[in-house]
Amino acid sequence: MKVLILRNEPAAIERAADIVARTVRDLPAAVLGLATGGTMLPLYQVLAQRHRDEGLSFAKTTSFNLDEYIGLAPDHPCSYHYYMQEAFFRHVDIDPARCHLPKGDAADPRAASGDYEALIEAAGGIDLQLLGIGQNGHIGFNEPTASLGSRTRIKTLTTSTRRANQRYFASFEETPRYAITTGVATILASRKCLLIATGAAKAEAVANMIEGPLSAVCPASALQLHPRATIILDAAAASALKLTEYYETVHPQGRDSAFD
Ligand code: F6R
Repeated sequence: MKVLILRNEPAAIERAADIVARTVRDLPAAVLGLATGGTMLPLYQVLAQRHRDEGLSFAKTTSFNLDEYIGLAPDHPCSYHYYMQEAFFRHVDIDPARCHLPKGDAADPRAASGDYEALIEAAGGIDLQLLGIGQNGHIGFNEPTASLGSRTRIKTLTTSTRRANQRYFASFEETPRYAITTGVATILASRKCLLIATGAAKAEAVANMIEGPLSAVCPASALQLHPRATIILDAAAASALKLTEYYETVHPQGRDSAFD
């Protein structure tokens, strides 16, 4: 794992944007795995700005989002389809025909999950997977005890996840109970992955992911098995780590090491 600790959130987001931009410049037809949530909003803003100011192009990329709530149509303002449209897609030159999210409103969500996994495979797999982390250690909606061998499927959300996401809905009761999410094994199959965590509320989950045991209790700890996982943290999200001095020796201020 490459652990990059940046002094604050804006610096962490700029560093993450550099990695996305480099991927897209090196491989214009990259298959991107995208995430939603509060952490990603400033990243999408920076990428959209680089598109406007520097011509960073997503025209040839294909994207697959990690997850979608079951029961929400794409035009529901709390759906992840809507989030992606508003936060990113409509601000850049990505081809809408190549932007994929699980179909949360499918008549048969189980079949839709299998179809989604097959679509990722047909696209040749994911070149760069973006990830956030839940306070409970989830990645995508792979909640604690999710199978580390899982592929895209339906997951029941934990009460803590529903409470964390309640802010987007009118009430806790209206916050969806189920989602379609790509699995832990789907995420591990990506060629590179980039997890971003900012803020003190993520510190414990981040410590469990990086320095805790490999365990389904913290699904993000599965990234310990990924050969090319980069974790970008701000100082607050890194505050519960024990080996900080080592991470800062290898990657001073989050910069690449001499051998990267
Ligand atoms: C979103 C997703 C989730 C979030 C995580 C963190 O597509 O898959 O795993 O990345 O819940 O969310 P925020 O960034 O809102 O704290």
